[in-house]
Amino acid sequence: MLSLDDLLGRRRSTRRFGPEPVPVEALEAILGAAVSGPSAGNLQAFRLVAVADAATRARIEAAALGQESVGEAPVVLVCCADGPVSAAKYGARGERLYSVQDATIACMLAWLKAVDLGLAGVWLGAFDEAAVAGILDLPVDVRPVAMLPLGYASEVPGPKTTRPRSDIVIER
Ligand SMILES: Cc1cc2nc3c(=O)[nH]c(=O)nc-3n(C[C@H](O)[C@H](O)[C@H](O)COP(=O)(O)O)c2cc1C
Repeated sequence: MLSLDDLLGRRRSTRRFGPEPVPVEALEAILGAAVSGPSAGNLQAFRLVAVADAATRARIEAAALGQESVGEAPVVLVCCADGPVSAAKYGARGERLYSVQDATIACMLAWLKAVDLGLAGVWLGAFDEAAVAGILDLPVDVRPVAMLPLGYASEVPGPKTTRPRSDIVIER
């Protein structure tokens, strides 16, 4: 098992994948990690769609500016905000904010677990939400907010760069 620091260091956006499938047990563990996180009111106002079907991934790739990672990765985890679940308790703030936060926390935890298991992925935000929702026949108001192509890396990312800490952290 990786230390947290190793895990954080190893998590890099990976956009090229080999053809090996994601083992069923690995996907189960990834989904388990995704649902283990915090959520507003512990409502878990998100839905996860694990897309392995190649034809469906090809359609999603087209709805994601043709990003080839979608078609190449053996599994794409589509992380969706379930606004109505959070809205029932928290109103507009739950609908607009908490459900999106719930879904993105789940996505991040899924990615970290995938890395822990020797897999790699990339967070995708650039896609046509309505098109992806249509392709996946999602329930009304279930909004795809992030996608995570997952598989075994076939590229090594370059060095990580970050903005200066002083541009990010505000001290008061
Ligand atoms: C909200 C968000 C949206 C992103 N959208 C895309 C995307 O559509 N396509 C892509 O290739 N990478 C996307 N990325 C990945 C970033 O480019 C990447 O995280 C960043 O360059 C830092 O690299 P690292 O993840 O290796 O640390 C996105 C990341 C985030 C957090």
